[in-house]
Amino acid sequence: MHWKVMGPAAAVALAAVACSPQDDAVGQATLAAMALDPAAIPSSPTNLHADDPAASALGRRLFFDKRMSADGGVACASCHDPSKGFSDPRPVSLGVDHRPGSRHSMPITAAALHPFQFWDGRADSLWSQPLKAMEGQKEMDFSRVEVAHFIHENYRADYESVFGPMPDLAALPPEARPGEAAWDSLPAQSRDDVQRVFASVGKSIEAYERKLLCADTRFDRWTRGEITLTADEQSGADSFVSNGCIGCHNGPSFSDGKFHAIGVGGADGADLGRAAGLPLLLADPFNGAGAYSDDPAAGKALLAIAASEAGETRAFRTASLRGVGQRQRFGHLGDSNDLRQFITQVYRGGGGGGRGGGGDNGLDPLLRGVDADNVDAIIAFLRTLDCPVPSADLLAP
Ligand code: HEC
Ligand code: HEC
Repeated sequence: MHWKVMGPAAAVALAAVACSPQDDAVGQATLAAMALDPAAIPSSPTNLHADDPAASALGRRLFFDKRMSADGGVACASCHDPSKGFSDPRPVSLGVDHRPGSRHSMPITAAALHPFQFWDGRADSLWSQPLKAMEGQKEMDFSRVEVAHFIHENYRADYESVFGPMPDLAALPPEARPGEAAWDSLPAQSRDDVQRVFASVGKSIEAYERKLLCADTRFDRWTRGEITLTADEQSGADSFVSNGCIGCHNGPSFSDGKFHAIGVGGADGADLGRAAGLPLLLADPFNGAGAYSDDPAAGKALLAIAASEAGETRAFRTASLRGVGQRQRFGHLGDSNDLRQFITQVYRGGGGGGRGGGGDNGLDPLLRGVDADNVDAIIAFLRTLDCPVPSADLLAP
């Protein structure tokens, strides 16, 4: 299966479902279609190794390896902690040398279901995303040349069994990245060699992350007719549909994978979200249309979709609600640690703290008519999405 991007007709139909008076049969059918089948997750055409078990085994070890950071103390798992639903209980994560980031960490349990990664969608694959985390100065601050040396020293055999022979790195400086003289002065061939290793490291991590699916929840078992919901949970399910939550939280991850301005933002409004992320994605040499993609045509088609969905300013990616009740912080700011309070504040009276969606207030039209009543039952329903404990073979090596 490829990314099924919802066409305008389907979106309108869903919005209509969302706004119509409660209709149990329609609501039930819509929810049933949100079951997650791990065997049917979208393919990742730009990564030939996305479903290669050897790549995934390497990716798993790298995911937990703190040595792959400037101070040797930060791994992917530091901010995506398996014991915390692969998320981070801190409002914003701390990278190397305890440098604070600017957004709350995202849970990655359903990341393989979203075509665009990050709150602002500045990555279009699960293999290009980790490259930003590794080199990011507030995250691991490990330059691409350091990554290549690190793999050569520590994981050479595993790497080569998946991606073929490593290039000769002997003449390279210990560290270098674009924007630094040490990088810019390297021969084009050396830069390409390094970037191929860098991209391949990302591809092995993607192969691992594709297995981190919050599947087989009580919700999924309910859709298969294996269990019934309590009256409270059922009432919450009905309200989730009739209150209009499903307008954006739809599909198997309970996220449409799209970007919406719902009025969650810092007081200064400086974070432009998707509006800032899109230009970065289009200019990224590691995007799906670029030289390191295994299927540039597929990557190009996805980028065309991204470009056509410019969206509102201060739009952020709809958060997946799988596992939401197990998380300790909500929204891209991570400033709320109370699920009930988050929902009530954001969605009361149509979002934006009661300002109403659509119109000229810059908020998403899908917020129109959305309400936060029956919130305790909605939370009871959302807890049916609690993720089962990941199997031991997916945890730290
Ligand atoms: C210092 C903390 C930190 C580290 C280390 C870190 N991340 Fe993240 N991660 C974040 C934050 C914060 C975000 C959201 C950032 C944003 O949107 O700008 C994020 C977002 C993501 C996403 C996007 C999920 C989605 O649904 O869009 C994925 C996937 C991810 N990280 C995987 C990784 C991997 C793999 C590594 C290791 C190579 C890693 N992260 C290292 C903090 C971290
Ligand atoms: C217009 C689209 C839209 C609608 C409608 C909508 N949401 Fe959201 N939701 C989002 C977006 C976008 C985010 C990410 C917000 C941010 O920037 O932090 C989000 C975040 C959330 C979160 C935080 C999850 C996390 O882990 O951070 C919860 C909980 C949530 N929504 C529940 C609901 C409920 C309940 C309803 C119905 C009352 C609803 N949403 C309606 C788009 C929507």
